[in-house]
Amino acid sequence: VRRGFSSSAVRSVVIKNVTIIGGGLMGAGIAQVAASTGHSVTLVDTSDDILKKSVKGIEGSVKRVVKKKFADKPEAGEELIQKVLQNVSTSTDAGLAVRGSDLVVEAIVENLKIKQDLFATLDKLAPAHTIFASNTSSLSVSDIASSTSRLDRFGGLHFFNPVPMMKLVEVIGTSATSQETFDSLMSFSKVLGKTPVSCKVRFTIIIVAVSCHASKEDIDIAMKLGAGYPMGPFELSDYVGLDTIKFIMDGWSAMDPDNPLFAQSELLNKLVAEGKYGKKTGEGFYKYK
Ligand code: NAI
Repeated sequence: VRRGFSSSAVRSVVIKNVTIIGGGLMGAGIAQVAASTGHSVTLVDTSDDILKKSVKGIEGSVKRVVKKKFADKPEAGEELIQKVLQNVSTSTDAGLAVRGSDLVVEAIVENLKIKQDLFATLDKLAPAHTIFASNTSSLSVSDIASSTSRLDRFGGLHFFNPVPMMKLVEVIGTSATSQETFDSLMSFSKVLGKTPVSCKVRFTIIIVAVSCHASKEDIDIAMKLGAGYPMGPFELSDYVGLDTIKFIMDGWSAMDPDNPLFAQSELLNKLVAEGKYGKKTGEGFYKYK
């Protein structure tokens, strides 16, 4: 069956209908960005009251964007506001919402059991081609996916707060994620106007970079000019937050203690101990004004 697949050489699912579960800080931001890039979005949460607040929040946020970017084109601005509001519908019934969905992005509470239960239910109700993605910041995507029977169509899409402003999206593939699914998540992120990075590659580069003796400026320039990355590994680490980087590296080190790649980095530990977490605190590997 070809429905839902593009005819390009690398097959990837064309994502048009998106269900976002969880209308909180992250879910509302993802819904806004997906709606403003022409996707049909269903935002799901546990009550109509919460959903009303989410939609109000989205409206306020688009209006702020319009004020900034469309100051001299009020008609185009109004058009964007209307487009976003038209493209977002809401539901308290996740099972019903996923029935016409190409992609489900989950942004509910950070609790493994609750996420697993949600996906186990949705797995039975969503069409076969639907891709599932979690926005989890600290749980293992494989663990979440394990409650479903669509391991090949399951990945991580990790957005950053505030979603409409932050360009970076980490695309996470588990060992079972198919290439097609991974490619679909990468192209979806690009259509959203984001810069997607593959998580595995990013962390390998960051780990190698922090244990390397060349200067951080040289490594960042080499990775940008030589390898075409939008940001060098030190810049990217500052942007993500060194506390988060340390948390993830410590997790990997605990899982694979003998791997020299995950040995403790003195420099990273020192910066985190000094509260220098990167851009958000004004200093990390680099200093910010
Ligand atoms: P939040 O607390 O603002 O929003 C979560 C929403 O999910 C709430 O509106 C809640 O009512 C709803 N919810 C809970 N259980 C539900 C269920 N079973 N079905 C439907 N809706 C449900 O949380 P936030 O900050 O938006 O985080 C969501 C996810 O995104 C978490 O997994 C978090 O780790 C991740 N994340 C958060 C970031 C942040 O900076 N806050 C950054 C990147 C990822």
